[in-house]
Amino acid sequence: MLTSKEKSDTRRLPMMPIRDVVIFPFMMTPFVVGRESSVRALEEAMLGDKKIFLATQHDASIDEPKPNEIYSVGAIVNIVQSLKLPDGNIKVLVEGVERAKVVSVSDDEGFFRAVVRTYTYKIEPGPQLDALITRVTGLFEQYVKLSQNLNYETMIAAIRVDDPSKLADTVGANLQLTIEEKQELLEIFDPIDRLTRVAEMLDIEIEKLNVDRTIQGRVKRQMEKAQKEYYLNEKIKAIQKELGRGEKSEIDELKKRIDAAGMTKDAYEKAITELKRLENMPPMSAESTVSRNYLDWLLAVPWKKKSKEIRDLKYAEQVLEADHYGLEKIKERILEFLAVRRLVKNPRGSILCFVGPPGVGKTSLGMSIAKATGRKFVRMSLGGVRDEAEIRGHRRTYIGALPGQIIQMMKKAGTRNPVFMLDEVEKMSMDFRGDPSAALLEVLDPEQNFMFVDHYLDVEYDLSQVFFIATANVLHTVPPALLDRMEVIRLSGYTEPEKAEIAKRFLIRKQLEQTGLTPDQVEFTDDGLHGLIEFYTREAGVRNLEREIGNLCRKVARQVVNNMASKDRQKLCKVVMDSAKLPDLLGPNKFRDLKTDKKNEIGAAVGLAWTEVGGQILTTEATLMEGKGKLTITGKLGDVMQESAQAAMSYIRSRAHHLGLPRDFYRNLDVHVHIPEGAIPKDGPSAGITLATTICSALTRIPVRGDVAMTGEITLRGKVLPIGGLKEKLMAAHRHGIYEAILPRDNEKDLPDIPENIRKEMKLNFVESMDEVLKIALEREIISLPMPPVGAAGVDLPTEENRAH
Ligand SMILES: Nc1ncnc2c1ncn2[C@@H]1O[C@H](COP(=O)(O)OP(=O)(O)OP(=O)(O)O)[C@@H](O)[C@H]1O
Ligand SMILES: [Mg+2]
Repeated sequence: MLTSKEKSDTRRLPMMPIRDVVIFPFMMTPFVVGRESSVRALEEAMLGDKKIFLATQHDASIDEPKPNEIYSVGAIVNIVQSLKLPDGNIKVLVEGVERAKVVSVSDDEGFFRAVVRTYTYKIEPGPQLDALITRVTGLFEQYVKLSQNLNYETMIAAIRVDDPSKLADTVGANLQLTIEEKQELLEIFDPIDRLTRVAEMLDIEIEKLNVDRTIQGRVKRQMEKAQKEYYLNEKIKAIQKELGRGEKSEIDELKKRIDAAGMTKDAYEKAITELKRLENMPPMSAESTVSRNYLDWLLAVPWKKKSKEIRDLKYAEQVLEADHYGLEKIKERILEFLAVRRLVKNPRGSILCFVGPPGVGKTSLGMSIAKATGRKFVRMSLGGVRDEAEIRGHRRTYIGALPGQIIQMMKKAGTRNPVFMLDEVEKMSMDFRGDPSAALLEVLDPEQNFMFVDHYLDVEYDLSQVFFIATANVLHTVPPALLDRMEVIRLSGYTEPEKAEIAKRFLIRKQLEQTGLTPDQVEFTDDGLHGLIEFYTREAGVRNLEREIGNLCRKVARQVVNNMASKDRQKLCKVVMDSAKLPDLLGPNKFRDLKTDKKNEIGAAVGLAWTEVGGQILTTEATLMEGKGKLTITGKLGDVMQESAQAAMSYIRSRAHHLGLPRDFYRNLDVHVHIPEGAIPKDGPSAGITLATTICSALTRIPVRGDVAMTGEITLRGKVLPIGGLKEKLMAAHRHGIYEAILPRDNEKDLPDIPENIRKEMKLNFVESMDEVLKIALEREIISLPMPPVGAAGVDLPTEENRAH
């Protein structure tokens, strides 16, 4: 125990209840006294030794508290000063003397008079006490530093006392405590207990202040940042104003442009609304950038600017003729189309669609049409487009949203009526993000496209003046609804003489220009072109041919430059490009000379296919292995082709005896059919007769002729059905030096489409049945087995075919 009660004393004193304040010993406090009873008590005290007992009332709102509504512990104070105010109130300054506890209270004189008891404690000095004092002073120092309400110097001076009781009271009086907490401290008579409690309270208060400080710091930083931004923004405005290009002038500028843009009413209103919003935004904010971008886009699309259209068909004809060799029918159809477009305002199905292999001039025809009609030309590829948003844009609410391709291209065109080429319509696909073909339909439909709405622009835009042209390599994957709106024009690839002609008239000239050479410096001979076409670029179109010509020109250009440097006059003469030079410049032939490679073989036949890259020849192969009658088919074939192989096999089995095979030949055999060039996906029924011929040959061991190509669908009964793409297929055969073909009879009607030279140079066999195919394709005739008697073991089940025999 550090303390012991030394003695206690009682005194009788006037008592005054006080509100909202707890008076500690040693504390100077001014306050105003107004209550009648209080004034009396005060006067009484002034008459005596100027001592009065002050105690806090529980509830500050009560005017006439009873003794039990006043705390029983208070302070005896000395009245240092008292001053009567004009309004009858008295202003007093009191100084606490010591704490005291009420023993009894009487109020018969018009004020309270209390008997109070005071206590004196004896304190044992020692290290424990010193430690406590150090702790409290230390904490209080901290507290004063954190608190902004206290003056550091005065406070620290105030607590430099030796008396622990006085220390506890001084500190307690200066803490930001509630009345209840202060009263709690006042009621602790034992000075050491009080000091200990003060230390605890200090801990809590410091903690509170720390939390306050962090929050305040944060709030302050935020405020500072906002203020700084505001300040800087204002400064920028001021600077811009000073420079004469203030925000105001930007808005004015935009307004002028909006007025001049010739927008539709809707778009104009939208633009003005947006402009108003922009005006009210802080100029550097992210929001205003979005707003400005939007306005820029609205202003960038052409609203009224139009190219002056050329309606002269004669002129159109001249342009088409000048830009393209051949393609007579196609040019005619284009001219017809232009004529109809002139007469009918909105002809249905008024969208041209060029279909054909790569490099046959689809895009360049589109450009020619633009030139011929005096319009601008823009082009957009739909290959790989699978999101509606790519066509129609994203709503502005997305971050980084942009208009769709249609609007972007219109901006690029800069006029309302360009030729708009939609490349690769067949390569558009659909996924969960919405069907782009639906959006495209809307774009192409003359009944809807005058009010096309891009999600980003969000206003109607008129596309009805646009001349749309679609292109595709094949048609079967074009969405039918789209196809329905299009006028399809097929381009089917060029024959070798045509290619040579195109090269001579266009491609060489173009490449010479691009490489800066003149016709005096290089000459392509017929033989050279033939070599290029035959051994370096086997294709339906002329894209690779053009590329190889370009390659050669660049090589010549390099030689020319080298020679110029060496000033060797001799070498400055013309380079003659013939086929002998090609391997040196372009490397060895890229293609085998298939023309020399036409051996007759067992189990291999030459088929004709029609793929995205035009006509192709495909060799089919079949081998037999010991097995159980299984048919294996490989070579990246589609379902239809697989089924076609099954059909061929079934046909052969049902006709076994006719083909000189034992009825159950398949029981212990597996057949493997393979179509090489596995990288090319193949499908369709037109390989039917080729597959059947291959398997037949493998089974009968009779070789198939290597100089005959064939195409045709097969039925189970061996009928040959017509196929598509005859022209492309025959051109492919011709390219490969195959001059005889077996074709379905029903395709004879397509003959007029076949280029003249092919019709002349090729022998075309039109057939109706598989029997005829085999007769032509196999090296020698099959000897049938004699018909076994009906019902005998090993007899074929009767079919319509063999019943007829
Ligand atoms: N009949 C032709 N007369 C003159 N040049 C031609 C002819 N056909 C094609 N060309 C030229 O061949 C090149 C390739 O043609 P283009 O780019 O139009 O092919 P495309 O059919 O659009 O091919 P893709 O399907 O790959 O887009 C162009 O330089 C084009 O001018
Ligand atoms: Mg193209």
